[in-house]
Amino acid sequence: MNKISGDRTLLTADIPMSEFNSIAVLSIDEYISKGGYKGLSKAIRELKPADIINEVKKSGLRGRGGAGFLTGKKWEIVDSSTGDKKYVCCNASEGEPNTFKDRSLIRSNPHQLIEGIAIASYSVGANDAYIYINEKYTEEAAILEKGLIDAKGKGYLGEKILGGKFSLNIGIKKCPDKYVAGEETAMMEIIEGWSAKPRQKPPFYPASRGIHGNPTLVNNTETFSNLPHIIVKGSEWFLNIGSPKSPGTMIFTLSGDVKRPGVYELPMGTPLRKIIYECGKGMKDRMVFKAAFPGGPSNSPVTEAQLDTSLDFDSLREIGTGLGSATVIVLGDSTCIVNTVLKFSKFFMEESCGQCPPCQMGTVKLFKLIKKVEDGNGRINDLKDIEDTCTLLKNQFVYCHLLIGATLSVEGAVKNFRSEFETHINEKRCIYKNEDILATI
Ligand SMILES: Cc1cc2nc3c(=O)[nH]c(=O)nc-3n(C[C@H](O)[C@H](O)[C@H](O)COP(=O)(O)O)c2cc1C
Ligand code: SF4
Repeated sequence: MNKISGDRTLLTADIPMSEFNSIAVLSIDEYISKGGYKGLSKAIRELKPADIINEVKKSGLRGRGGAGFLTGKKWEIVDSSTGDKKYVCCNASEGEPNTFKDRSLIRSNPHQLIEGIAIASYSVGANDAYIYINEKYTEEAAILEKGLIDAKGKGYLGEKILGGKFSLNIGIKKCPDKYVAGEETAMMEIIEGWSAKPRQKPPFYPASRGIHGNPTLVNNTETFSNLPHIIVKGSEWFLNIGSPKSPGTMIFTLSGDVKRPGVYELPMGTPLRKIIYECGKGMKDRMVFKAAFPGGPSNSPVTEAQLDTSLDFDSLREIGTGLGSATVIVLGDSTCIVNTVLKFSKFFMEESCGQCPPCQMGTVKLFKLIKKVEDGNGRINDLKDIEDTCTLLKNQFVYCHLLIGATLSVEGAVKNFRSEFETHINEKRCIYKNEDILATI
């Protein structure tokens, strides 16, 4: 088991997933005994699809896969789009380094996810759904396979669910362990039998034109896992947790130079300081806090002065960074931030699918410039070159967000930690430690 994904710690009592917290996989009987599948039963027996979409809209639930798009709004688009049929896809690709929340959710409670997918499928009128899962998540795929069989055995999946008219088949689709495979249109390509290459957009997005040109709802594993709770307890209950514009909780993957890395579910808006010093038990090896990437390698790092910022979509955007999928990477004073963004840029360079020339060439250029500085061969003009390259790349038309993500952490590091880049140039070497910050599956 990976050192980061080993722990799953839930701190607050009244938060959606904590009721079902379990280190061992929760069986279907255990799940039902804790109130599981009541949301699906209520949805099918008591509610119309439009009522559910309305409730999800009222809850303010935002997607947990990175962009924070309003879930109810997306469902409404799928619901109102026409096609031969509709599909629902659960994104469990999780190819971003240091992110292990979806794996943790599947490992502890696969039925919560299956129930969430079934509620979503009923609401948008889909009879076919996929769980799109990273090929390296073999244990989790096996857990889900068993979960699907057990759910079907109890009448929660398959033909005429719970004696009603609604039928649903959920299949498991394994995807390559590539970051870009998690992009939703690359997912469509894989499901249709092609390779992991994002599609051009606009004009078409999956919600109106996805798998085989049909309306397709794509949500993240964590997004779906919230749904049974919202349907049973209502949108008001959900709105009382978290921040006004980012209600609910978020599952954070905490890694880097903290004493206790792990996966933590906390209310949205929890201060960054709290997750580092309470959940993570503070800095390891007597280090002093230097920087944190609150939204993983695709977002700008924050400084010590920003430690009290609330971890939610809007508060982080206000200070020039983002929440992404809540991958919090912490750096102590002796860890090199230049080397850290060098590793990030190597990752993006290797993960670029190569379809868009600005991405293919730009990620290589950024990597080479940062490597020059890290190796002690940089000149002060190189910092301007890095900044100009980031500005230029951010304004290019490309098929997906990978390129912008690749520029944000670099640009933010140069802006907020410029003196460290200058030290490399002046000293003609790196005087910091090169910790192995990146953890992949
Ligand atoms: C390069 C790239 C990789 C992505 N990887 C993931 C991923 O692993 N899991 C995920 O849920 N979303 C990922 N996304 C976002 C998806 O395209 C999509 O927005 C998301 O699955 C929608 O779910 P949500 O609305 O519940 O957040 C990625 C996006 C990009 C550009
Ligand atoms: S931006 Fe990069 S990763 Fe995304 S489609 Fe273009 S080349 Fe591929």
